[in-house]
Amino acid sequence: MTFAAELRNAVRDEHDAIERTRVSARLADGTITTAEYADLLRQLHTVHTALERAWRSRPELEDLYPFARHSRLAAVDADLATLGEPLDDGSEPHPSVDELLASIDRWAESSPVSLVGPMYVLEGSRMGSQGLAKSLPAILGTAEGEGVRYHASPEGWFDEWRTFKTGLEDLCTDPDDRAAVVAAAKQTFVALIGVYDGRSVDR
Ligand code: HEM
Repeated sequence: MTFAAELRNAVRDEHDAIERTRVSARLADGTITTAEYADLLRQLHTVHTALERAWRSRPELEDLYPFARHSRLAAVDADLATLGEPLDDGSEPHPSVDELLASIDRWAESSPVSLVGPMYVLEGSRMGSQGLAKSLPAILGTAEGEGVRYHASPEGWFDEWRTFKTGLEDLCTDPDDRAAVVAAAKQTFVALIGVYDGRSVDR
């Protein structure tokens, strides 16, 4: 079995769990409010900012998956602007995100290969995002393709994703590295499940 397949199997339960969260359900059934969706985007922006900075400081990682090209920070900015929501609304990161941010800093210093874990989870989420990019504008009251740029992947992205997963075979040969990546991916899912469980957004 390839390491990419191992990784996917290892986080299957967490993936199922995030699909069952309140925010996922509200995204799927169309009851998500603009304020709730904006809150989700802000949390994702915080995680992407930390991860992309850490990833891009490591040439061996950036060569494998060029976050410089695939950054979704500008997409979040554009989505929030479309929705008339500020990027900084004064709210704090979710506590589970705070813990993940601390881990990302630690991994960047002492275990860069662990960064593959959060990267796999965040960028792998594009796999299920295609449907959202189509369905969300009607829910959010935006024009087609607007307010949902975070969920849209450019043409050719899936080929690059496959190349990234193949490249993991050479990057992660050491069993300890593989275990570290799996643990980091699980921790990322747990942090995001905290976010997707939702919190009250009183606007
Ligand atoms: C209701 C919400 C979601 C649905 C319906 C969904 C659906 C899917 C689908 C259809 C796939 C592709 C499976 C395949 O190719 O066999 C997938 C893969 C994946 N999704 Fe989700 N997903 C959801 C939410 C999320 C979230 C919130 C995250 C993380 C933040 C996530 C992370 C991933 C990852 C890491 C993969 C595996 C990618 C790979 O190994 O290539 N998903 N999802």
